[in-house]
Amino acid sequence: MVAVGSKCRVCKGPAIIDLPRHNAHFCADHFLELCRRQVAKAIEKYDMIHPDDKVLVAVSGGKDSLAVWDLLIDLGYKADGLYIGLGIGEYSEVSGQYARAFAAERGLRLIEVSLRDDYGYDIPTASRATRRVPCSACGTSKRHLFDKAALDGGYTVLVTGHNLDDEAAVLFGNTLRWDVEYLSRQLPVLPARSGFPKKVKPLVRLTEREMAAWCIVRGIDYLVDECPMAAGNKHLAYKATLNAIEQESPGSKASFYLNFLDNMAPLLAGRSASATDALGTCTSCGAPTTSDLCAFCRTAAKARAHEPVPVELVLSKGRRRR
Ligand code: AMP
Ligand code: FES
Ligand code: ZN
Ligand code: ZN
Repeated sequence: MVAVGSKCRVCKGPAIIDLPRHNAHFCADHFLELCRRQVAKAIEKYDMIHPDDKVLVAVSGGKDSLAVWDLLIDLGYKADGLYIGLGIGEYSEVSGQYARAFAAERGLRLIEVSLRDDYGYDIPTASRATRRVPCSACGTSKRHLFDKAALDGGYTVLVTGHNLDDEAAVLFGNTLRWDVEYLSRQLPVLPARSGFPKKVKPLVRLTEREMAAWCIVRGIDYLVDECPMAAGNKHLAYKATLNAIEQESPGSKASFYLNFLDNMAPLLAGRSASATDALGTCTSCGAPTTSDLCAFCRTAAKARAHEPVPVELVLSKGRRRR
């Protein structure tokens, strides 16, 4: 990760990581300090979490969500975890083990929800039944279950592990299409409104690479594999493109996203149609929705009516298509 002999910018001790966008190297302690500072700055600047908030962290077993949980505890917040078993074969089994082990080792509370056991379907089946890409059924299911778990548990803030790479890639896609509706909602904080908890992304000032390094330095075991159903996903291509730009011009990724928040997002405020849509109530589950049945209940009904589809079948179909 770093050339032999490199020195920490702060203490001049041996460096463990170079961060070209800060034009500096850091030792383990000062790298951790930098991560804490970046998270504290995001929380303060975007008014994410107050000391009296009851915080729920959505954890997938991957590096970002375990790191954000760890960082929040380290910064003195009390936070419980939420893991959703998506039924994506071995990937889901192993990701659950990492989330459970992290919580158990630290005596933290982890709430678990299983799509198959609690709702009678899984993501491979939902993807096939709705004839949509897996990430679409997955996003609909996760969003609904995040909201429900937060509201049922009396949590005032729901935290996700989205990092700078994730947000910059989504911004890149939205910008390529000049999708003003999505651009106007691409904020690191979504305020609570009736039926929805406040949602925050404290890692927006830190990269994927930095979060992997945080986990390694802190001794956090995480699932390295990406979701097998996300292969070929456009966001992965956008991330690769942004990484190529970052390589040539360190700091571009952070300025692309963080300057968007400072300079463009205020100009787009109030342009989101969905924020002003009158919301009714889902006749099946009571969640806010603009139609009779919410998107989650529509997805769940279609998936439950379909025979279970093993993940391998959906994957091999995806491969044939490419
Ligand atoms: P993804 O949509 O997979 O990029 O994940 C974005 C964020 O959603 C992660 O950083 C987690 O905070 C959360 N998340 C993803 N998968 C799960 C899961 N199975 N259970 C709980 N939270 C999750
Ligand atoms: Fe949602 Fe892979 S985690 S489709
Ligand atoms: Zn140092
Ligand atoms: Zn519903």
